[in-house]
Amino acid sequence: MSITETDFIHRFEPGADATRPPLLLLHGTGADENDLIPFGRLVAPGATLLSPRGKVLENGMPRFFRRLAEGVFDEEDLRRRTDELAAFIRESQARHGLAAPVVLGFSNGANIAASLLLRHPGLLRGAALLRAMVPFRDPPRARLEGTEVLLLSGTADPIVPAANSASLARILQDAGAAVAHHALPLGHGLSQMDVALTRDWLAAL
Ligand code: MLT
Repeated sequence: MSITETDFIHRFEPGADATRPPLLLLHGTGADENDLIPFGRLVAPGATLLSPRGKVLENGMPRFFRRLAEGVFDEEDLRRRTDELAAFIRESQARHGLAAPVVLGFSNGANIAASLLLRHPGLLRGAALLRAMVPFRDPPRARLEGTEVLLLSGTADPIVPAANSASLARILQDAGAAVAHHALPLGHGLSQMDVALTRDWLAAL
């Protein structure tokens, strides 16, 4: 097999339930393609799972794009990595005959998922963004009518200020997405509340 720019180390798990959209799992900093598989199985039993590993290494920790400091992104790298990930998604859809996926991203994975929504409208059926931030200082204008977004933020999150997640919700809403934003009494880590809300939101898609 030839190695192209769009190849990612990844896990692909075909699902038994063809009525469910495939779930694209995007992990947080320091995790890998295995990290969100149990979460994916819990929230979308029977769905096909596609889980790539971020290609950028920060002190040995995989990420999906470079950052200059915590919460300060290298936006040029983010644009390039977002487009590379979009190409991987399209190739995977063609290879496996997949419908438009729903993305489930956590932290760094949620941030590139927000970037995917804004740079590649129509590619994703929907997005569950867990502890996401505004990805660009000057976000591209996108038309996202018909795209469903679940935004789960933590009111005690030391990485994502409340105003930042509120502003991401507004950007996506202004672009036409149907956004459900829950500010949970949590920090940056995931909890049973995230599992329950994501499962219910996916079931209602
Ligand atoms: C990021 O760099 O995407 C955010 O700071 C979240 C993180 O990965 O810690």
